[in-house]
Amino acid sequence: MGISSGAANQEHWSGRAAFILAAVGSAVGLGNLVRFPYVAGDTGGGAFVVLYLLCILFIGIPVLMAELYIGRRGGGSSVAAIRRLATAEGKSSTWALIGWIGMVASFLIVTFYSVLAGWVLHFVLVSIGDLAANVGENGPGALAAPAFANMEEGEISAQLGGLVSNPTRMLVMHAIFMAVTVFIVSRGVKGGIEAAAKVLMPIFFFLLIMLTLSSLVNGDAAAGFSFLFKPDFSALAANLIDGSILLQAIGQAFFSLSLGSAMMVTYGIYMSREEDIPTSAKVVGMADTSVALVAGLAIFPIVFSFPALAANLDEKGAGFALLFDTLPLAFHQLPFGGLFAIAFFIMTLFAALTSSIALLEVAVAFTDGDIDVAPDQRRRRRLIGAISLGGLAFLIGVGHALSQVPVSVQDTFFNSWQPLGAIPLFAGKTLLDVVDFLTANVLLLLGGFLTAIFAGWIVSTSAAKEELRFGNEAAFGRWLFLVRWVAPAFVGAVLIYGAIISPVLAQRAERGSEAAQVIEEMSQPAE
Ligand code: TRP
Repeated sequence: MGISSGAANQEHWSGRAAFILAAVGSAVGLGNLVRFPYVAGDTGGGAFVVLYLLCILFIGIPVLMAELYIGRRGGGSSVAAIRRLATAEGKSSTWALIGWIGMVASFLIVTFYSVLAGWVLHFVLVSIGDLAANVGENGPGALAAPAFANMEEGEISAQLGGLVSNPTRMLVMHAIFMAVTVFIVSRGVKGGIEAAAKVLMPIFFFLLIMLTLSSLVNGDAAAGFSFLFKPDFSALAANLIDGSILLQAIGQAFFSLSLGSAMMVTYGIYMSREEDIPTSAKVVGMADTSVALVAGLAIFPIVFSFPALAANLDEKGAGFALLFDTLPLAFHQLPFGGLFAIAFFIMTLFAALTSSIALLEVAVAFTDGDIDVAPDQRRRRRLIGAISLGGLAFLIGVGHALSQVPVSVQDTFFNSWQPLGAIPLFAGKTLLDVVDFLTANVLLLLGGFLTAIFAGWIVSTSAAKEELRFGNEAAFGRWLFLVRWVAPAFVGAVLIYGAIISPVLAQRAERGSEAAQVIEEMSQPAE
């Protein structure tokens, strides 16, 4: 038994497979499908990928093991688990702050994650609507048609702009996505999260494999491989000099594995004592990394088979424009592209849903409160918790969505509001930018840094050893070394770099904004 008192009432995963599916579902999300291909292609291709793999192996997976054992040993919610563990070791209960930081981070992430997932939902509906209309007009043979057969290229490219110029549409999509997330979370660990993962994840993997095979066969596989994996030493050198590649690699590893946000602590709470944490962590880490690599191969070969679209990539970047503009244009030229487009957006939607469930769960586990209450009281608390926290996240998300509306279209207040505009660092940043920056560049890394310190130095090695049950001393010794020294050193350095040094550099580079000019003028005499 763990050290938690009411372990009998604690909900648990129904088994190893259930935990793995749920944890992989939480990890695999927009980070793998949108962020990774972009960052990898942009920062040096293969050189970045190698660095990323090292970060996953030597920092990500060891910290993942730490989060899981902390959760399982402590029980309750992430905050309660860490507090219990700290007091059991005779240490200060202020360590529970790590749980708070993580909980705030994951709650803040879900406020904008849902807005972006709403965009994906919009594209699912548009691609289904287009194909359905085509089949309605031309009969079942139209299933073989390219995507958006009824649209001009310009019309397809205008979809994303049209969506952000339509606040009502954005908010409806955001509301639907959040409502589904709340519904699943309100049904609890087994009946909700696990049940959803068991349905969504197999479909996700099926679609991913189909799309990748098709992309490799129909697209320019060589160009895709080279974009993703061929080391670009000049980009690497440039990035190494300003230090940002390590920040990118560690930041991406944390975001992709959902670390530093109390999320894996929370999923660890629901693990049973029999589960082998080191093996589970390795499986989750490998699965998440494979999906990131494979997703790149589902996207780039297709894009590179159309030279005009490869140019599009340079011009418009590889973030959301890749997903919602370049890729639809590629499907527009492909036989059966209509079906591929639907498959692609549904795959992305499902990946985002299993992640948003996880993000909301962290805070809902906290409002569940003490685990020593009767089952129906627990169920009621969970329902109220899920609805009120999901509702609050929705409301904050409204601000994010409205901040994306072009000012030329409509003044929504949020598109000109700069919440921390008085601080030069945040000048010109909207609510979404600020929250994105604070979570990805500050809170996740801070949470991860403190988690490593806590697991490596504060919890006794005997407790850690008892939970992790590595087969041998040497393996435990290696884990301890990584968590005590390697993770804090690198994450700490990157935290200082990402939160302080790099924004200041970026600020200086951004010549357009007034604030940057002021800083520049101020710094000129000194130069
Ligand atoms: N890992 C998910 C992705 O790759 C997103 C996510 C889920 C997440 N939970 C998280 C990110 C916690 C940071 C923290 O898209």
